[in-house]
Amino acid sequence: MIPQAPKGTDDILPPASEGWRRLLRGFEDLAVRYGYGFTMTPLFEATELFSRGVGVETEVVEKQMYTFEDKGGRSITLRPEATASVVRAYLGSGTQGVFKGYYAGPMFRYEQPQSGRRRQFYQVGVEYLAEPSPDADVEVIEVGYRLLQQAGITEVTVRLNSIGDPADRAAYREALVAFLKDRADLLSDEARSRMSSNPLRVLDSKADASVVADAPAPLDAICEAAAAHFAGVVAGLQRRGIPYEISPRLVRGLDYYNRTVFEYVSAAYTAAQEALGGGGRYDPLAEMLGGPPVAAVGLAMGVDRIVLAMPKFPPGGPDVFVAVADPARREDAIGLVAALRDAGLWSEMDLGDRSLKAQFKVAGRRGSRLVAVVGDEWSEGLVTVRRMSDGEERPVAIEEVASWATNR
Ligand code: HAM
Repeated sequence: MIPQAPKGTDDILPPASEGWRRLLRGFEDLAVRYGYGFTMTPLFEATELFSRGVGVETEVVEKQMYTFEDKGGRSITLRPEATASVVRAYLGSGTQGVFKGYYAGPMFRYEQPQSGRRRQFYQVGVEYLAEPSPDADVEVIEVGYRLLQQAGITEVTVRLNSIGDPADRAAYREALVAFLKDRADLLSDEARSRMSSNPLRVLDSKADASVVADAPAPLDAICEAAAAHFAGVVAGLQRRGIPYEISPRLVRGLDYYNRTVFEYVSAAYTAAQEALGGGGRYDPLAEMLGGPPVAAVGLAMGVDRIVLAMPKFPPGGPDVFVAVADPARREDAIGLVAALRDAGLWSEMDLGDRSLKAQFKVAGRRGSRLVAVVGDEWSEGLVTVRRMSDGEERPVAIEEVASWATNR
């Protein structure tokens, strides 16, 4: 039996991978234009990084990590996210001052797989370190918004909230626990058990939605400094014309956040009401990892979900397919393909010794724009070029095929 890909993983193959390719290239160009530099951290880390950074009581750390012991007896975890790694790398590099990095790569979470919820999934993200200004939050939110626009996804809304500073969060937690205790007999078993370990997670519980609808909201209990910061973010989003919606109960599932939290949703992706991306400010994280305080804000976008929501792209085809009419000219044809590739064109040929007719069939199937036939005219310095859209043919000088193809 042929081995199967593990549950919750995907093979991304052409031609369906075209949407992925465009999205990833578009993201890189976008991130570079906004001043973020290419950043790559390991796919696996010491487990402690996530238990300390993401939080032991979070769903991600408690239930979803791929953790194993390596041959040296160390506890290792496949990264469920990259923010903790980027901050670890920043602290370890001795870098001081502002750092702006972007990343793209697979993340791993042991989830119940379904469409758009995978065990290996792909994120693109940016992290903006050592900048406390609310304008940094606005810039990060804008990057994610532009990415979705660039991908052709319409009706995007940014769900926005502020959870305040750590002291606000502790006070809010107490108020929430008191509220939940009063209604304990109305809650699901799971919510009752989370009530003391991580009550904020009850806010996300679908089974308890009607009970928590009247719960106090984090936004109502934030300190003045956090409120001023939030006002700065809101004003910035308005200036930049980014549509947002204040969601007073949005808390997000990772422990490192303070102040701004946000998620992107779209009518083009409504599966289980899940987000296309999200992020927030995480000023506490550097200290949670044992470092000095470092202001920080960032986001990660879920590429698997964005691709599902994107309009489908035809994969395109070669600019010039080179066909061989006379097998004795095969080497010349290979040389012509190489020259066209050097000139920046997508060029291919069939390497299987097929008849000219069969080669035209392959060229058509590949979606070729032009077919250059290498035959008897080669000795006169010419090839016959056929435009596939209307079948028009003409002789073209060998050295002019590239410029001819570029301009047609
Ligand atoms: P997150 O909300 O856990 O945040 O993930 C960000 C995005 O990754 C989600 O909105 C979703 O689109 C995608 N995603 C998460 N889990 C899955 C999955 N199992 N299958 C498919 N897609 C998934 C973070 O990871 C934070 N590190 C974001 C951040 C960066 N905060 C500050 N900087």
